[in-house]
Amino acid sequence: MPNTARDLRDITSELNVENLLEDDHQRIDQMYQDVLDALINQKPPMSQHLLFKLFKSALLRHLHWEEKVLFPMYIEFSGKQGSIPQLHLQHKEIMDYLTELEEDLSKGLEKSAFELLGQYLAHHNEFEEKSLYPAFEALDSKELKDKLVLAISRGFK
Ligand SMILES: [Fe+2]
Ligand SMILES: [Fe+2]
Repeated sequence: MPNTARDLRDITSELNVENLLEDDHQRIDQMYQDVLDALINQKPPMSQHLLFKLFKSALLRHLHWEEKVLFPMYIEFSGKQGSIPQLHLQHKEIMDYLTELEEDLSKGLEKSAFELLGQYLAHHNEFEEKSLYPAFEALDSKELKDKLVLAISRGFK
C-alpha cells in the first residue's frame, strides 16, 4: 500500500488502466482454469465448489466494477457510448451463465456448461480489450486515468 504522494505518482506513471484490467482478465482466466482442472481431474465436489465460488466472486467483482465505475466514467468524459451497450449485454449474458451454473451446483458442475461460459468470457474479454480499454486509454485526461489506476490498484487484489 503506497503511503506518500511520491509513491502514488510512481504507481500511476508506471501502470495504466488497460494493463491493469487485462491483468485482472488473466487472473480470472487462471481461476477459471483451476475450476476446469478440478472438473477434468474429478476432484471432490467440495473443492470444485470452492474453486467455482472463488472464480465467480472475482469475476463478479470485475464486472460490477466495470459497470459501476469504468462505463459511467467513460461515457461522462468522452460523451460517447462506444462499445458499452454491447459490453453491457455481454455482462448480462455472463451473469446468466453464472446463475444457471449455480442452480445446477447441487448436482455437481456440468463441465460442458462451464466450458460454454469459458468460451463466452474469452470472446467478451477479447472484444473489450480491443474496444473499450484502448478507447479509455486514448482519452485525454491524465487526472481521470490516474484516479482509476489507484482505484484498481487498491480494489483488485
Ligand atoms: Fe467486461
Ligand atoms: Fe473486463
